[in-house]
Amino acid sequence: MSPKLQAPRGTYDVLGDDALARARLEEHARRILEGAGYSRIETPAFEATELFARGVGESTDVVQKEMYTIDEGPSESLTLRPEGTAPVCRAYLEHGMHKLPQPVKLWYLSSFFRRERPQAGRFRQFWQVGAEAIGSDDPAVDAEVILLLSELLETVGARGLRLRLSSLGTPETRERYRADLQDHLRAHEAELSAEVRARIELNPLRAFDADHPGTRRVMEAAPLLLDRLNPDDAEHFATVCARLDAVGVQYEVDPTLVRGLDYYTRTVFEMTSDALGAQSGVGGGGRYDGLMEIIGGAPTPGMGWAAGIERILLSSPAPPVAPAPLDLYVAYAGPQHGAEAFRLAADARRAGHSARLELGGRSLKGQLKQADRAGARYVAILGDEGTALKDMESGEQKTVETQTVMHHIRGGL
Ligand code: HAM
Repeated sequence: MSPKLQAPRGTYDVLGDDALARARLEEHARRILEGAGYSRIETPAFEATELFARGVGESTDVVQKEMYTIDEGPSESLTLRPEGTAPVCRAYLEHGMHKLPQPVKLWYLSSFFRRERPQAGRFRQFWQVGAEAIGSDDPAVDAEVILLLSELLETVGARGLRLRLSSLGTPETRERYRADLQDHLRAHEAELSAEVRARIELNPLRAFDADHPGTRRVMEAAPLLLDRLNPDDAEHFATVCARLDAVGVQYEVDPTLVRGLDYYTRTVFEMTSDALGAQSGVGGGGRYDGLMEIIGGAPTPGMGWAAGIERILLSSPAPPVAPAPLDLYVAYAGPQHGAEAFRLAADARRAGHSARLELGGRSLKGQLKQADRAGARYVAILGDEGTALKDMESGEQKTVETQTVMHHIRGGL
């Protein structure tokens, strides 16, 4: 025998109850997002590598280490999408969506790819539901976008949720702040962990995540970006917070919140769940007012989020799974009735009923058991003595003309 093949590490098959739970999650997402004026968008699974290199940022882990890149000859490099924001912005530009009433609101539910070390809640192919509102810098957009994620997670019953919120201001503010933070770290270099010391130049913000006691003490006195925002950005952030307060969304302002992608400006946020292990991030996002220019468009503000489908499902209780309703099960006694049975099942479906035909070559007894297991409302039994129609709820059974089965189903026996 040939060796049995398996799905690659960090990937999985969607089937059974998991498929039903996902379909339900997608329905909730559609209802909530389309109800707020978002339309569905589907972009290709791969894009020009440059879109992510420029959009997500050369210095990010995603671009440096996690992209699945395919070289298509000397002049074309493609990458399996690691995230959805840059592709949605590319589509906005490509389709001239600036001509539509702004903001343009789009949502997606698609699979994404990152070369990460697989572990619980972290996959190499994973699914995200996401929403992007492009073309307005109104702080109400930020608050509404956050509210929609929070509604979706509440609707599916995600447990132990925590929302952290901050503002990164403009790239210029951030550049100045970074220099100040580096000065602060250098002034206390001897008290820092070796790891943090080595990253002062490259990534001083990481120092906020350190567990090392000496580093933590130094960070308590460190300057905070949130205190350095320019007046416009500070007012923008205050309004975002006020809008969230007005609708009772609970959040913590966390000035040390860092996101793994470079395109963020102003508002950033992250939703975590205590019900998850180390990979506690359920969803996150923020504003990306500079992204459109980076990928070749006119300056256009944008705001959005994405949430991991696997993590939403892991943090939510499994809902009871109800089998799909079945109107008619067509059973038949012997191959001489096969053609008529086939026709009856097809006619029933054409008439808008759900109908299943016996396909397993079972005995009549086995077929009836199967119909019962499938939860069929009616069973038609085609035999030498004519067609019997059985109401599985009342147990009542009647001999009928095969052509009248649908009529009986509609009217009740
Ligand atoms: P992100 O924080 O990189 O943001 O990913 C969003 C969510 O995707 C995470 O919170 C997590 O639930 C899920 N996720 C990420 N990587 C994996 C993985 N390897 N396995 C399983 N789940 C994963 C973005 O992707 C941005 N595009 C969000 C955004 C939209 N910002 C503005 N608009």
